[in-house]
Amino acid sequence: MNLFNVYPLYNVTPVKAQDCFVWDEKGKKYLDLYGGHGVISVGHTHPDYVSKLKNQLDNLGFYSNAVQNSLQVELAKKLGELSGYHDYDLFLCNSGAEANENALKLASFHTGKSRVISFKNSFHGRTSAAVAVTDNEKINAPINKQQIATFLCLNDADAVEKELQKGDVCAVIIEGVQGVGGLDEGTTEFFKSLEILCEQYNVILILDEIQSGYGRTGKFFAHQHHNIKPDIITIAKGMGNGFPVGGVLISPKLKASFGLLGTTFGGNHLACAAAISVLDIIKKETLIENAIAVGKHFENQIKKIPQVKNHKGKGLMAGIEFDFGVVELRKKLIYEHHIFTGGAMNKNLLRILPPLTVTKDHIDIFITALKKVL
Ligand SMILES: Cc1ncc(COP(=O)(O)O)c(C=O)c1O
Repeated sequence: MNLFNVYPLYNVTPVKAQDCFVWDEKGKKYLDLYGGHGVISVGHTHPDYVSKLKNQLDNLGFYSNAVQNSLQVELAKKLGELSGYHDYDLFLCNSGAEANENALKLASFHTGKSRVISFKNSFHGRTSAAVAVTDNEKINAPINKQQIATFLCLNDADAVEKELQKGDVCAVIIEGVQGVGGLDEGTTEFFKSLEILCEQYNVILILDEIQSGYGRTGKFFAHQHHNIKPDIITIAKGMGNGFPVGGVLISPKLKASFGLLGTTFGGNHLACAAAISVLDIIKKETLIENAIAVGKHFENQIKKIPQVKNHKGKGLMAGIEFDFGVVELRKKLIYEHHIFTGGAMNKNLLRILPPLTVTKDHIDIFITALKKVL
């Protein structure tokens, strides 16, 4: 059997990793400034994380959501404390798309409506409703077009209001900072308008923090830079540091009932152990503060490079815009300088999403290599 060939692959085979470095099968060492699509939050194979998972596996790897699971309760408590959302409820699932799928479903249940407002260049996942609200025709199959989504320009609050006035919208979904699209983001004024308009028209505001959350931008959630409180927040990626886990944070105004949502694997014991360990490490090692400091250093350094057109993003969700495509640049960085970086829908943007443990010295290794390649 062959693998279904959907991924264009770099010719690198990682077999081992530690903190911000990855080794291939020949022992070659790579600096990981991409964290496998922004997934590695507390560093590869962090010793506390590894021992917590091993220990959990020795005791109980999985049992279903039909019995008590104190790890879920511990996770919700710690997540509430670190994020500031003590009064929200947590629904656990397995991926980012699944988190958005459940968030949209909840919005539709709550309001009795179904149309969704999303934004140009957004990415929310590849499943049914999540892909329907993703602005990419190429990954939207005919079956996904049953969901009605309207794509508006970021920062156009008047256009949002015009749509909400029609009375058929259940949710507005927006990324804290656009990831796959290329690090565009709403202004504080725009986020505040969304909060007010959603309240006024009985529409659920969903903040997709799947990529921008978990401290990456220098706050636990990127929307906290704008001082707003959405009705629903979705999380995944950095939440499990590589263990597949996702979550939906739900405002007290949305009420739960038995059977409303459900999943077999969501919130399993191993996933909870991973997610608890991530929160403990973020807190103990003050990684959100590190994201601010190292993110600032990155910005200062890249702004000194004459070929750089623009710095985008916040903290360790950052990008460098050039006036040429970055495909060749990224190939040289990986094959000649052994540094992983990311791309975006914006072909001129090189993205970095390193582990939150990355240091200024790691950034300097990248800056030296980048200058050489340029
Ligand atoms: C903002 C955002 N939402 C949702 C998703 C989908 O997450 P997953 O690939 O875990 O389904 C992604 C993945 O890149 C993302 O960046």
